[in-house]
Amino acid sequence: MTPNVTPLVAGNWKMHGTRASLDQIKAIAEGVKGPLAAKVQSLLCPPATLLYVATALCDDSPLAIGAQDCHETASGAHTGDISAEMIADCFATHVIVGHSERRTDHEESDALVRAKAEIAHRNDLVAIVCIGETEAERKGGRTLDVLKTQLAGSVPDGATAANTVVAYEPVWAIGTGLTPTVADVAEAHAFLRAELARRFAGEGVAMRILYGGSVKPGNAKDLMGIDNVDGALVGGASLKSEDFLAIYRAYEDLTA
Ligand code: 13P
Repeated sequence: MTPNVTPLVAGNWKMHGTRASLDQIKAIAEGVKGPLAAKVQSLLCPPATLLYVATALCDDSPLAIGAQDCHETASGAHTGDISAEMIADCFATHVIVGHSERRTDHEESDALVRAKAEIAHRNDLVAIVCIGETEAERKGGRTLDVLKTQLAGSVPDGATAANTVVAYEPVWAIGTGLTPTVADVAEAHAFLRAELARRFAGEGVAMRILYGGSVKPGNAKDLMGIDNVDGALVGGASLKSEDFLAIYRAYEDLTA
């Protein structure tokens, strides 16, 4: 945790979820109502097909809704893509950019991710900028170099603590059940904090840095209790409302 920074617990549903899953969104929207909402922000990023109905379901809930990607330009002939304006038009408030699955599946570069974050900002969306090393990069001792390059290349100059969240997601920890040690997470987040503070001064000190990669109810408290870990980006465990809410509620102890 970082002093005076409101943590964010975010769920990324990836390519999962149909209308049948709306009950899960409803349960999460209900479950995050309560005193903890004053101390911890919650966010769910369902697939684009559910965005508009999801924001309607969250009308009277502190649960925010975000998208998982946006195109880097405002509009045009880009079949199948979704613009930041369209996301905002659905009343969503956040968008994930540069997730490792997009970097791998769609060969997205740091420059492209930065352009996506910039257009998100122009549409008043909070950009959640994902970075993280592969297993080979970690084994080769290159983790911090990779993070430095990705952070510098993917986060736009106009980033502030209000419009940008950084998510550190080691690629090898995503969907594998493996997580880095507490010491490894602490090292990566302290490094990212120093880099952000150097580049963005006070805004960088207050920018949230989430951890993502096999966050579960059983390890949430340990991971989110680490210095400079300001929340979680949860994949698989966010599909089940009980698991997502159990992760969110780990902050009951951490903020007590
Ligand atoms: P898992 O929690 O399923 O490992 O996914 C993490 C992730 O990629 C969130 O964006």
